[in-house]
Amino acid sequence: MTASLLALLSPVAGFAASPRINYLLHCSGCHLPGGEGAPPNVPSLRGELGRMLSAPAMRAYLVRVPGSAQSALSDSDLAEVVNWMLMEFNADTLPPDFELLSTDEVSNARKEILADPLQYRIAHWRNYSFD
Ligand code: HEC
Repeated sequence: MTASLLALLSPVAGFAASPRINYLLHCSGCHLPGGEGAPPNVPSLRGELGRMLSAPAMRAYLVRVPGSAQSALSDSDLAEVVNWMLMEFNADTLPPDFELLSTDEVSNARKEILADPLQYRIAHWRNYSFD
């Protein structure tokens, strides 16, 4: 089934897209299907997101960046996409005590869209390292 057909089907009652399909529809245009992005313009979603979750303020960051916060996804679908992205691309680097993001957590955090994601990233974690 093509992405455009899925986009047509999604408003139909009872049709729920999987997190992987929602990632492909709402995120992969910039971050690419494999999450590798296009550094330095679009960051990779592979590996570092797991490590950055050792800093408590960075959980909310994942859904406060504009691409997440302003997506057309519902709070529960966004929570599922971000959890899927963490398990799919970052399983090896997640902290041992990692807990999945909840819908309530995502709902609250995404209301506070970051005007300057890089400034927040540097203040609470560190700058990008493109290697
Ligand atoms: C229009 C292009 C675009 C789309 C669509 C997009 N992003 Fe992004 N994303 C970016 C850019 C650019 C950044 C760098 C921060 C910024 O300038 O917003 C970023 C940053 C991020 C980061 C932080 C990465 C880091 O290492 O700091 C996460 C997490 C993220 N995006 C997740 C998502 C998710 C999840 C979706 C889909 C719901 C998504 N993005 C959709 C362009 C996009």
